Amino acid sequence: MKGIILHGGHGTRLRPLTHTGPKQLLPIANKPMSQYALEDFREAGITDIGIIIGDVYPEKVKEYYGNGENFGVKISYIYQDKPKGISHAIKLCKEFVGNDRFVVYLGDNILRKGLIDYKNNFESSSNDAMILLCKVDDPSRFGIAEIDSESKKIKKIIEKPSEPKSDLAVIGVYFLTPKIFSIIDKLKPSARGELEITEALQLLMEENNSLQYETVTGWWKDTGTPEDILHANQLVLDSIGKENQFVIDKGSTVKGNTVIGKETEISSNSSIQGPSIIGANCRIGPNVTLGPNVSVGDNSILENCKIENSIIMANCEISADVHLSNSIIANGSKIEANNDQTKHELLLGERSQLKI
Ligand code: DAU
Repeated sequence: MKGIILHGGHGTRLRPLTHTGPKQLLPIANKPMSQYALEDFREAGITDIGIIIGDVYPEKVKEYYGNGENFGVKISYIYQDKPKGISHAIKLCKEFVGNDRFVVYLGDNILRKGLIDYKNNFESSSNDAMILLCKVDDPSRFGIAEIDSESKKIKKIIEKPSEPKSDLAVIGVYFLTPKIFSIIDKLKPSARGELEITEALQLLMEENNSLQYETVTGWWKDTGTPEDILHANQLVLDSIGKENQFVIDKGSTVKGNTVIGKETEISSNSSIQGPSIIGANCRIGPNVTLGPNVSVGDNSILENCKIENSIIMANCEISADVHLSNSIIANGSKIEANNDQTKHELLLGERSQLKI
């Protein structure tokens, strides 16, 4: 079985974070979100992986993943000139897929329990496709499946309905066979100008092919908005273990589950509350209160601040008497403040400079 990760798309809802790179490389608990998809594939024994790259800094994706050998997989890149839809991206993979069954994983989706069980079930069936469903509170944001309560079969799949008749979202992991390619050839662009995956699945059913579904156990997250990213960070941190390699001053404390990288120093009068992750070579302190639910990337310097439920990426400097909550601060940003006690919720793009 082969795997495909969708790494193209617009990224508009995540600006300014996506002005300098594709959204799927934004870190969740210090790891690019698309790496969770790649690791799920590897764990399920799928090591021949195609990555769809688009027109938002595709070279950054290639630079990070290379040919895949550092990640224990083999990667082929497939270029999509414009984000013309998930089905359009899948169509570009026809040659890469050949006659195999395959799995498409949207690079901005994270699935808590991985793929192994779903993959085994699909492989041992003769179905033409399999989708995964998850109950959601806001069904008009997703592709939705209506299920017949008696037969337990899928009745209809519809993209972002304005008046949803079901709260079962079709999540961004699709188990497919090459049959999907001739179906995609028949699609027309939707109202948003895309070849929709939901329309391909609906047509697959209408042409009497078998579409199986499973309900997701454990959490699933589509990281479309900054709030979703912070929530995904929190969900991943919830299951983080303890792995600490830091140097700590006597006057400071570290509590709960934390992963703290090499050469990181925690200096006077600072307290770290897990679950939190801090990268390598950071300087935390003096007078820092950090956590819970905070990720800090490598080489960052934090002084005199209070931070909770936030993502501070690599090479940032926060030397400020400031309180940050629900914030995402991208690489290389600098925040200075003079005795500012107000709580701020910030979303800063790469290399921002802020004086409060
Ligand atoms: O997350 C699940 C939802 O994903 C499904 O419930 C919907 O049925 C499905 O259409 C999709 O909805 P979104 O509106 O969230 O899709 P988005 O435009 O965010 O694209 C999903 C991923 O695929 C994202 O990582 C970008 C990538 N992509 C998207 C398009 C349209 C591409 O690589 N190429 C594309 O042309």
